[in-house]
Amino acid sequence: MLQNAPIGIFDSGYGGLTVFRAIADRLPAYDYIYLGDNARSPYGDQPFDVIYKYTLECVDWLFSQGCELIILACNTASAKALRTIQERDLPLKYPNKRVLGVIRPTAEIIGGFTESKSVGIMGTRGTVNSGSYLLEIQKFFPELNVFQQSCPMWVPLIENNEYLQPGADFFVEEYCSALLAQDEAIDCVLLACTHYPLLLPKLENFFPSNIKILSQGSIVANSLADYLARHPEMEKRLSKTREKKFYTSGDLSSFNQHGSHFFGELITSNKVILD
Ligand code: DGL
Repeated sequence: MLQNAPIGIFDSGYGGLTVFRAIADRLPAYDYIYLGDNARSPYGDQPFDVIYKYTLECVDWLFSQGCELIILACNTASAKALRTIQERDLPLKYPNKRVLGVIRPTAEIIGGFTESKSVGIMGTRGTVNSGSYLLEIQKFFPELNVFQQSCPMWVPLIENNEYLQPGADFFVEEYCSALLAQDEAIDCVLLACTHYPLLLPKLENFFPSNIKILSQGSIVANSLADYLARHPEMEKRLSKTREKKFYTSGDLSSFNQHGSHFFGELITSNKVILD
């Protein structure tokens, strides 16, 4: 075990805190550093080169803090930047370190949640346009019909703390209706953006009760537990003092206040200056 080798968790803003919550509950022994790039979020509508540049800067920063393993708890970054980082940057700069995403673990299990074989994916424009879910789900469940809906207004509503206000109902209805209009057999909806679980009360209200709504927190947490069990060489390197640190490129007091809703406990964040 190294002295300071936390697991890094990254998101463009607050959303990854929903994944971090589930990971910290499932794997409490480890040390963690969370980085939210709030100053530059949302990432969802940015072009590939920008998302890749931002994500790589955050990955570099987390590695500079001693992380051995990083979870990109952001679908947009996982869809747009993960493969290049894994295939190009890690072998060159960090051959013994690892970066994992959230799309593959979700694609691996989604088939178990549908009877009609028709599933809906709700995500940012970046995630939807990347086609990453279509590609990954096809590998594991070629028999599934997958329908996608981008929800560009949801992250801004959530980042600005407006997600439980009546004004949010309009955009919940707009995107959910558009998804269901694509196929009436949809019986499983994946929230393929780590911000979206904050909208769960409104989504549960909107969707008929036969539709399962999947959030990614526990899926990613279980997949990480499985990864660590299969990679003892990585597991042994991780430090285990139960420390949790929070960093943001944005405003500290907003992050502490707003982030605490996502994480489900009070948090105190530190500032990071990214390029
Ligand atoms: N939470 C991120 C995701 O899972 C996206 C938010 C953003 O657009 O920055 O896709």
